[in-house]
Amino acid sequence: MKYGYFDDEHREYVITRPDTPLPWINYLGCEEYFGIISNTAGGYSFYKDARLQRLTRYRYNNAPLDVGGRYIYLREDGNPLYPDRPLFWSPTWQPTRQQLDRYECRHGLGYTTIRSTLGGIESSIRYFIPLGESLEIWELTLVNQRDQPASLSVFPAVEFCLWDALDDAANFQRNYSIGEVEVVDGVIYHKTEYRERRNHFAYFACSEEPAGFETQREAFLGPYRGWDSPAAVVAGGLSNSIAHGWQPIAAQHIRVQLNPGERHKIVFLLGYGENPAGDKFDPPGSQTLNKRRVVPVIQRYLRQDEVEKSFQALRAYWDGLVGKLQVTSPDIHTDHMVNIWNVYQVMATFNFSRSASYFESGIGRGMGFRDSNQDLLGFVHLVPERARQRILDLAATQLPSGGAYHQYQPLTKRGNNDVGGGFNDDPLWLVLSVAAYIKETGDWELLDEPAVYDNQPGTEQPLYNHLQRSIQYILDRLGPHGLPLIGRADWNDCLNLNCFSDTPGQSFQTTTNKDGKVAESVFIAGLFVLVAKELVEIAAKRQSFAEADTIGNAAAEMEKAVWAAGWDGEWFRRAYDDFGDPIGSRQCQEGQIFIEPQGICVMAGLGVENGRARQALDSVYTRLATSHGIVLQQPAYSQYYLHLGEISSYPPGYKENAGIFCHTNPWIMIAEAMIGRGDRAYDYYLRINPSAREEIGDLHRCEPYVYAQMIAGRDAPTHGEAKNSWLTGTAAWNYVAISQWILGIRPTYDGLEIAPVIPVAWDGFDAVRIYRGVRYNIHVVRKGPGNQAHLIVDGQAIQGTVINISPKDTSEVQVSVYIS
Ligand code: GLC
Ligand code: GLC
Repeated sequence: MKYGYFDDEHREYVITRPDTPLPWINYLGCEEYFGIISNTAGGYSFYKDARLQRLTRYRYNNAPLDVGGRYIYLREDGNPLYPDRPLFWSPTWQPTRQQLDRYECRHGLGYTTIRSTLGGIESSIRYFIPLGESLEIWELTLVNQRDQPASLSVFPAVEFCLWDALDDAANFQRNYSIGEVEVVDGVIYHKTEYRERRNHFAYFACSEEPAGFETQREAFLGPYRGWDSPAAVVAGGLSNSIAHGWQPIAAQHIRVQLNPGERHKIVFLLGYGENPAGDKFDPPGSQTLNKRRVVPVIQRYLRQDEVEKSFQALRAYWDGLVGKLQVTSPDIHTDHMVNIWNVYQVMATFNFSRSASYFESGIGRGMGFRDSNQDLLGFVHLVPERARQRILDLAATQLPSGGAYHQYQPLTKRGNNDVGGGFNDDPLWLVLSVAAYIKETGDWELLDEPAVYDNQPGTEQPLYNHLQRSIQYILDRLGPHGLPLIGRADWNDCLNLNCFSDTPGQSFQTTTNKDGKVAESVFIAGLFVLVAKELVEIAAKRQSFAEADTIGNAAAEMEKAVWAAGWDGEWFRRAYDDFGDPIGSRQCQEGQIFIEPQGICVMAGLGVENGRARQALDSVYTRLATSHGIVLQQPAYSQYYLHLGEISSYPPGYKENAGIFCHTNPWIMIAEAMIGRGDRAYDYYLRINPSAREEIGDLHRCEPYVYAQMIAGRDAPTHGEAKNSWLTGTAAWNYVAISQWILGIRPTYDGLEIAPVIPVAWDGFDAVRIYRGVRYNIHVVRKGPGNQAHLIVDGQAIQGTVINISPKDTSEVQVSVYIS
């Protein structure tokens, strides 16, 4: 069953009923102020950091589902005239869940519009965050479609979070006493803790003079009542409560009279403000919030022309971003994802790493080192300046050993000590993101940019030195088979071979009971070869030929070690455990074959020449592939194994224990494309493509416009059900797989390469790619069943598949590609 449809012209996904299997969300904001919003207006907002500077409350894992949001209530003040109509309702369906006559939610790029009609009152709320501002706009449009006048009351309401979202949900003995607000000129200011060490506050404002307000939750809801039926909305008036402690909220009351056919707009603002430490109060010495900085901003955005202007600017911004790669292919699902939704999801993962979604609470994790580096692979062409800064931020959390903090806090940009380091794959990913950035931009100077280690001033070294240490970190930690030691875990966070945890509640990721000198990872070995090859190319481009040789030799040695101890006969092994026994081998009872090394080793070129790559990928096909995607390993672990850690803690078929961990699927697509099997690559691509799964919405359950981290594997009773949508490395890797390897439009150090490995049935495709400031109009035609590409560039046949960087003043290049 479908719950909506793609509107490609507007770049929107349109949800046609509110009761989607799970809340289907969108993100607002792409700079510093952010919001999550569901199709029924649930969600929350934060400034920069979802944990430390949370503006509004949201309760995860709640019943009913998805309550806490940006709510507006409409009330029929003339109700005695229409006794058969409901007294009040939510035009976004939640939280009253009053049945609506019409409902439609449009999630667009950076905005969401929820439209509905009930009893002849049409309402539309457009939510977005203007570029460059730390505020969100809720633009409400009401239309009276009745043939009689309507008297309505409008009540917007939000519940404030007392900033630190974790403390807010736990430290009640303090928090019930600290809430503070001010209400001035109709604007509600939330200023809890402003009296002491905070210099920021939130505000809520409206383009009309409110007839009343409420800032104390209980005054609005009434004792023992919920958001579905606030006592004040029932009563039709607010009491102007001022919160002292308890739960500060912002609710307002606006009365609206609408003649038949009349349309009326109201603008609401929820925003974040900050004052310098020495200028917090006005007058100085008082305890009154200094509003001089924020009032002009509020006044500006309460004007409808400014609202419209900033909305158009937001649209233009996104048009520019997605315009960097547009394709017209024979397959609508490819087009949906490449042109709009996959690239949009890439921006979300860039912004939030794995911190804030409907599955990530915003309080658990900061920015992941390996995650963010991989996210960059899909992002570098979008906003290269931001990618550059992110790379430098990540490098600054690298440790002098070459290892890395596994995570850092976005607010402080400091490594997170609770989790620490020791995930031995981490540093390698930095090389991949840097390589991707340079291939995209040609900005070789990045390598000379100084970056500190462990955030310590005085330890600056050129970024290139960080890459060298990344490689060295692995070479300093080889195990008995000459393969890299795994440490706490490699890419698979749940393969914890040094953990041996038998105590409930212990963190699998940070508990270490073994000295870590035995357990090795074939995955890291493959990744090492892949990364070392990149670095060889980089070193050669910098004329460091001796170094290129040294690294090349290290890669060759590693390859040898893989063939000696990492090949199982028909596929690559996964690892060696603390007893020196193989994991991911036919010798094992369970977990005989894992997807990760098959993908990464082939991507590194292992076995491409000698046929073993093909063999490994055929094993994936026969042993791991399902119609819903490729599972992580087989057979699933049926019990908890002390020596394997978290992977065996999950019930079979879920997450790392044989779930379809979507992040890894594009590695296989890339590997298949590398050995020339376009049909297979594309087949795998479609199996997990969310748009292609739209028709099975009841099974898939998550949004059909973004990838989910996991789809339940064949061992799970809910095989095919997706979970953990939005924040996953799946976004960047699928984008890379489809755009760079299947469509084959690939940035290189020397220019744009076009080497498609498309399905045999495709007769070609068209694409526009903006690359280093030049627009490439690409027309691909299939002439024969193979993957040989012949390129005609501006009318001239060229050798090979890489188009040289154009002379400076070129703005457009025409490319015809003939495949045979
Ligand atoms: C999660 C983590 C990622 C890890 C993956 C596999 O997606 O964010 O870092 O590689 O799980 O365990
Ligand atoms: C759990 C998850 C894994 C994730 C990790 C992050 O282990 O299974 O996917 O990467 O938590 O801490």
